[in-house]
Amino acid sequence: MNRRFYVTTPIYYVNDVPHIGHAYTTIAADILARYNRLMGKQVFFLTGTDEHGQKVEKAAQEKGKTPKEHADLMVGNFKKLWVKLNISEHGFIRTTDTEHIKTVQGLLQMLWDRGEIEKRSYAGWYCTPDERFWTEKDLIDGKCPDCGRPVEEIQEENYFFLMSKYQDRLIKYIEDNPSYVLPETRRNEVLGFLKNNTLGDLCISRPKQRLSWGIPLPFDESFVTYVWFDALVNYFSATRYLVPGAEDARLGEFWWPANHHLIGKDILTTHAVYWSTMLMALNLPLPINIFAHGWWTVNGKKMSKSLRNVIDPHDMVDKYGVDAFRYFLLREVPFGLDGDFSEQALINRINTDLANDLGNLLSRFIAMAIKYFEGKIEISESLEEFKVHCVKSLAVAMDEQNWSHLRFNLILENIWGIVSEANNLIAREEPWKLAKDNQERLKAVMFNIWNSLRVTALLVYPFMPDTAEKMWNQLGFKSLSDEIRGNRTEIFSWDWKPSYDIKVSKAEHLFPRIETKEAKKK
Ligand code: MSP
Repeated sequence: MNRRFYVTTPIYYVNDVPHIGHAYTTIAADILARYNRLMGKQVFFLTGTDEHGQKVEKAAQEKGKTPKEHADLMVGNFKKLWVKLNISEHGFIRTTDTEHIKTVQGLLQMLWDRGEIEKRSYAGWYCTPDERFWTEKDLIDGKCPDCGRPVEEIQEENYFFLMSKYQDRLIKYIEDNPSYVLPETRRNEVLGFLKNNTLGDLCISRPKQRLSWGIPLPFDESFVTYVWFDALVNYFSATRYLVPGAEDARLGEFWWPANHHLIGKDILTTHAVYWSTMLMALNLPLPINIFAHGWWTVNGKKMSKSLRNVIDPHDMVDKYGVDAFRYFLLREVPFGLDGDFSEQALINRINTDLANDLGNLLSRFIAMAIKYFEGKIEISESLEEFKVHCVKSLAVAMDEQNWSHLRFNLILENIWGIVSEANNLIAREEPWKLAKDNQERLKAVMFNIWNSLRVTALLVYPFMPDTAEKMWNQLGFKSLSDEIRGNRTEIFSWDWKPSYDIKVSKAEHLFPRIETKEAKKK
């Protein structure tokens, strides 16, 4: 089994402050990073910022700053948010890093030397906000087919990466590797596009007189590199200087290719087509998976500054707590589909799944353990029927295929399968009655609930690290991470038993209910 795991987020433009879309991808990547660390893998988790190109140059101009000054300021917003969202250890790449620039130039030179890049005169329609050329027939009502904004006709000399010659190879690659592009609907979309269109070559330069904020082409200083070419290379260049132990040059090969590039559905073509063919031309292995998630709308509407409905993740964390926010984003909709964000939906999840199902289970259990046994839990045998149900859910929640296909909501549903089994067990067994006349049964029931909570805390950890740690402490363990380090393989098994006496302790409720007018009415 491969012992290393490399996951990336897109690198975010520094022309704007982070919103829920940025938070979403980074949290998802963090969950994968944490889970894989839990499984004993060496993990490299990469995020960062995309700092070149017209958008950033324009945003800086508007603020009266140089692009680099502007980027330096904006980077802080992302870093601050990652702390707030409890994003675990990661590499942070900036496309203005000297090492990244060197890698981009090195790869460009290699492609140029191999005849994979050509200089041509080109006439086309240019969409400035999207930084993309379109042909006449691509336009819709004379406007950009992607964003609907006006385009300008431009004729100039430029450098082209000969992407078209990789069309057939790419189709075959995607057909031969069913999980290369996920979810399947997106894979079909890319295949449909590739099969029904003739792939053009990719313009990878911009004349300096039009755009100066970019990486100069190593073989022609009067041009800078197209921002997407520069940006996509980040995933590879980071393996040359940001990975753990990067001083050792051989580690670059160890870390490449990435296991997952997580992206939003709007940037699928750049990844599935541009990046894949760039790697083919460079004779580098392709990533194992590109996963395009859906978009969040807000109360049914597209998020936009003009509608003033942009969700600031800082506000949500301040109001509802980081774990509830992380849980909601991954539980509410399958990763890959679009979802609608509303505070009411978030409150509903908190009150039902978190406060009611999980929080109440833990606090009722602790209260009973203290009342009946002064907090002591005696190691007992598994109750067979209960075990069978829980183990089924545990298997789904830890299934490799579910994790490699990023089925976060299914995984969470199954963790909650264990939680509700435990709640049902309490309802069925009525420990308060057993306390009167069946101490042996009571001990067994209490141990089994304790065990289900132990497993739940482990499974919940990648999604809600603070909650897991709190549960773990209340359940009588010292430190979740130490415990896991010592017992990695066995601790996830249902039948694992601690080698010391267990004493649970009372603490604050994990998730207090949120009282709103609507909730009160209900
Ligand atoms: N810089 C490029 C990515 C280069 S990767 C080599 C970029 N940056 S971005 O900042 O504009 O967008 C980053 C991500 O945010 C994209 O994956 C995009 O899909 C995502 N989202 C933007 N709005 C979103 C929602 N409303 N909902 C979910 N994700 C959204 O593109």
